[in-house]
Amino acid sequence: MLFHPDHRLWLLRGATSAYAIRLAEDDSVRHVHWGAVLTLDQAAELPERVSPAASSFEAEAGVDELAVEGGARFGPPSLLVRFADGTRGVEWRYTGHDIDGGHLRIHLRDRHYPLHVTLNYRMHGDGDVIERWTNVENRGDDAPVTVLRCDSAAWAAPHRPHYRMSHLVGGWNSEFQVRRTDVPVAETVLTSRRGMTSHHANPWLAVDDGTACEDHGEVWSTALAWSGSWRISLHRDPVGRTTWTGGFGHEGLSWSLAPGEALETPVFAGLYTANGFGAASRAWHAHVRAHVLAHPDETRPVLYNSWEATGFDVDEAGQLALAARAASLGVEMFVMDDGWFGGRRSERAGLGDWTPNPDGFPSGLGPLAAEVRRLGMRFGIWVEPEMVNPDSDLYRAHPDWVLHMANRDRTEMRHQLVLNLARPDAAAWTHAWLDRLVAEHAIDFLKWDANRPFTEAGWPGHEDPDRLWIEHTRSVYRIMDRLRADHPGLRIEACSGGGGRADLGILARTDQIWASDNTDPVDRIGIQHGFSQLYPAQVMSAWVTDSPNVATGRRTPLRFRFHVAMAGAPGIGGDLTTWTQEELKESAELVAAYKRIRHVVQHGEQHRLRGDGTLAGVEYVREDEHVVIAWCPTRAFGHTPAPLRLAAVRPDAVYRDLDTGATYPGALLLQSGLPLGLPPGDHASALVRLRRADQV
Ligand code: GLA
Repeated sequence: MLFHPDHRLWLLRGATSAYAIRLAEDDSVRHVHWGAVLTLDQAAELPERVSPAASSFEAEAGVDELAVEGGARFGPPSLLVRFADGTRGVEWRYTGHDIDGGHLRIHLRDRHYPLHVTLNYRMHGDGDVIERWTNVENRGDDAPVTVLRCDSAAWAAPHRPHYRMSHLVGGWNSEFQVRRTDVPVAETVLTSRRGMTSHHANPWLAVDDGTACEDHGEVWSTALAWSGSWRISLHRDPVGRTTWTGGFGHEGLSWSLAPGEALETPVFAGLYTANGFGAASRAWHAHVRAHVLAHPDETRPVLYNSWEATGFDVDEAGQLALAARAASLGVEMFVMDDGWFGGRRSERAGLGDWTPNPDGFPSGLGPLAAEVRRLGMRFGIWVEPEMVNPDSDLYRAHPDWVLHMANRDRTEMRHQLVLNLARPDAAAWTHAWLDRLVAEHAIDFLKWDANRPFTEAGWPGHEDPDRLWIEHTRSVYRIMDRLRADHPGLRIEACSGGGGRADLGILARTDQIWASDNTDPVDRIGIQHGFSQLYPAQVMSAWVTDSPNVATGRRTPLRFRFHVAMAGAPGIGGDLTTWTQEELKESAELVAAYKRIRHVVQHGEQHRLRGDGTLAGVEYVREDEHVVIAWCPTRAFGHTPAPLRLAAVRPDAVYRDLDTGATYPGALLLQSGLPLGLPPGDHASALVRLRRADQV
């Protein structure tokens, strides 16, 4: 973090990159550089990136770090405000900055109105990630300020002849599909208007010039740490500038800042790498471990989850039967899913009534929890704290606690409505029952689900109802944070109908993410590929379930299902009471095999590999240990996949297969590839453990 007072320029330096910004004459903060490492003097010599005014329809325009309305600015604004007298926009006055270790704060105010804004930049000294966010404050004493948009940050890529964007799209059961498309000369909006991060778009956007690959090329990659509605607007203008701005909320919302009130945005983080998409992902994974996750050094357990086995048919005897089989396979955490509480015998009723169903659990959860522990496992449980079925005692008692609007329907999805946790009373009640549940049974693990988006998101009687779009999410964060502080052993899995709530915000208070309800291993390869762009393997929950798969009907071998799940933090989610003795034996062996590799998978570096045809794989590296997992879902007649070329071995070293004893020169693994000995036919897979031979 360096400052050049003569040039009014700040330089942020990461391990392999630099970021420079400057105060313009009008006191707006302008973007100067994001790329290769520079010295302060070199950065000071860089010209500002100004587009010249070629006609009366343009003004000379620099690239704002947080664009406002005001002056001749016509791109997507990052900060939109309206003052009580109707004046819009901001004219900046710089009031100073401070640098506190790796945290730079640039303080600005409006030249006339009492609106104060701080731009925050933080780097941690161990990587290239820049965390950015914005504070706005109404320091007036009489009138509110209306905030129509308040983004965390705007980013800019340097001038290139072409730009391409990488992002994640999907839906329920098909999350995290990577899309790479040219950036049109237009404004492109990635957004969720659902009150949740969403399955449909993930708040991650990477920009390159169209030539980057997995292992080379410049990439500017950004991710928003927010689990509610969000928007990222990418703008490529006809003179070749590409900028993007992002933050919480979607279009059409507004928030009123009362006198004395302040608003802080979530973090929008970004990194630059010259070494391709793989290096960008590894830099994100390292950042998530070092600065987002609470327990990065902890190895995620192999868990069992009852959902696909039982659906809503949940009782003590059934769960005990599953638990006994799970324990015999080496499972370490038993998680009872939906269906254990209230009148919850289907999707239609009971959500909100969080006491054990008396028919299924006549003596409460105590006997099940005790037996799970006696079997040597930890005990986890499914909850959906933000939701309520209208057919529930909770809703009958508090119909006003849900998101709703006067004179509007309450649209039900999955027969449920959303509790407005922005309400302090609903939030306090929610925290209280969760706290009681966790304390009473020393619950080790919550699977925290959220199975529908917001609709009719009103808050009758509240003077600033759009606040709920921010405050609901913050309330979820606060409840999670408080539970974790009060129950230090508690671990949480984030879930929203699968991967509908995966983002850096939720990861700061959870330990893993249920990436998709789709447990078909073939579909899962693509889902996991997308997930890995930003999130590390350690947080990716993946279950092995029954064949044929409940969603796709596809039949796959047990070994293939395990090998796909072993690329993350696996669990078992099938109906173990129907598995044959051979299947159980093979599963126990595969669980044991996973335990031999998981220190590398969960704590190592991840390299995505691409073979020929449909062969794909991942290589994990930790010190001298390498784990390669490869999958070939299908192959055409006569097309046996060629050996899989590895990415992260030294050409001058020799590698030994720890299971077969075979040795391979590193140069050969890089150039010709690792022979996988795949069995013939579809759904073939391989797991190979290698170690640098001099260490064996
Ligand atoms: C969601 C989750 C599933 C399961 C069900 C239970 O769909 O993603 O894993 O927990 O809810 O209703």
